[in-house]
Amino acid sequence: MFTKKTIRDTELDDKRVLVRVDYNVPSAEDGTISDDYRIRQSLPTLEYLLERGCSLVLLSHRGRPKDLGSYDPKTSTKPVAERLSELLGREVQYVPSCIGDEVWAICEHQAPGQIVMLENVRYHDEEEQNSDEFAKAIIGSTNSEVFVQDGFGVVHRAHTSTDAIARQGLPSVAGLLLEKEVDTITKVMENPDKPLMVIVGGAKISDKIEILEKFVEIADFVAVVGALANTFLLAEGHKVGASLAEPNDIPIARNILDKAHEKATTSNFTFAIPRDVVVSKSIDRTSETRIVDLSHNTWADITTYPKMPDQSLFTVADDEMILDIGPISASYIAGAATLAKTAIWNGTCGVTEAKGIAGAHDPFAHGTKVLVESLTGEAGEQNHPFVVVGGGDTVSFVESQDGLREQLGHVSTGGGASLDLMAGKVLPGVAVLWDR
Ligand code: 3PG
Repeated sequence: MFTKKTIRDTELDDKRVLVRVDYNVPSAEDGTISDDYRIRQSLPTLEYLLERGCSLVLLSHRGRPKDLGSYDPKTSTKPVAERLSELLGREVQYVPSCIGDEVWAICEHQAPGQIVMLENVRYHDEEEQNSDEFAKAIIGSTNSEVFVQDGFGVVHRAHTSTDAIARQGLPSVAGLLLEKEVDTITKVMENPDKPLMVIVGGAKISDKIEILEKFVEIADFVAVVGALANTFLLAEGHKVGASLAEPNDIPIARNILDKAHEKATTSNFTFAIPRDVVVSKSIDRTSETRIVDLSHNTWADITTYPKMPDQSLFTVADDEMILDIGPISASYIAGAATLAKTAIWNGTCGVTEAKGIAGAHDPFAHGTKVLVESLTGEAGEQNHPFVVVGGGDTVSFVESQDGLREQLGHVSTGGGASLDLMAGKVLPGVAVLWDR
């Protein structure tokens, strides 16, 4: 249950509302927005405010700009304002700053229903300094009367536009997206319909320690996939060749494996790491691939029977990279999905985003495709779980597959924010909002 005030609990009629959104969205080569999911997810809040006669000032970061002085279409909010304008069917006026006379001159004359999009707040050094002075300058320049936090993807940061700004005395409340994200993710973590399965991938184990421990604690089935699994394979004594892995973090992986093993001996719990993997010497759709059976006892025996199989069938060579889970591992995870009532999915099973590789028909996307079919019931299963998707790469994959997002329960707009929330961490940008 969301404990913070939202725009539904707040007097808003005809007010000037400063809305923090997370429009950190990618661009195509020509500078246009290539994925507008985050923008579309903000529309219910904006429409709610517009219906109440508010004038809106939108504030967002975009990327991590280094050269603060110069305009760059990949980090500017200008193309975002254009896209938002198309989606809303009304003008969104872009202003090339967040503070100062130019902002004041435009906001001062804003009529009800008018929308202003400020330039990337990270073009100002003070944004990441969580500065009261900068917060006051934004509020003063925009003449704002209410602050609405709706940028779920960024509330794990204690920056000026997420923290200091809500401590300057304006009513500071949540937007509808923030409320939906926090409510949905909290429910699946605290009170999920069981069995709960988790599929977790990604690259760095050090980023995922807390969340992995939490998943081992609350879930019935945890599958580790993607590059993250490679460090677990190392911890179990397998060779991973030239794969992305973190040998220094083997002790972390061992510790998690120990915890998982302990739970599995006392309860009905499974912790799955890949038993077979797809390997190749390069990440290219035309490159030669093969399946390595790390478990030494599945189809490799059958195909070579009665001869002793060649050891290379069981071992990743020094110059090979693990780029996907193999068919046995994929079927195993898919089987679990047919039993689960809730699934949390964070991380694709293999490389689904490499140049020249797009979509689920490519060589390293089969594992993810099998997983998706089982999560959505596409393969004809009677049962399929309520799926919560968190994490940037997974969301990009979902967005690249026509109609997939609609088949999943909740596709989060947050990467780090959704993981922090799942791990039970305090989100500064939520904590600072007014209580109900
Ligand atoms: C995200 O994309 O995860 C958010 O917009 C936060 O961006 P950041 O990691 O650059 O702070």
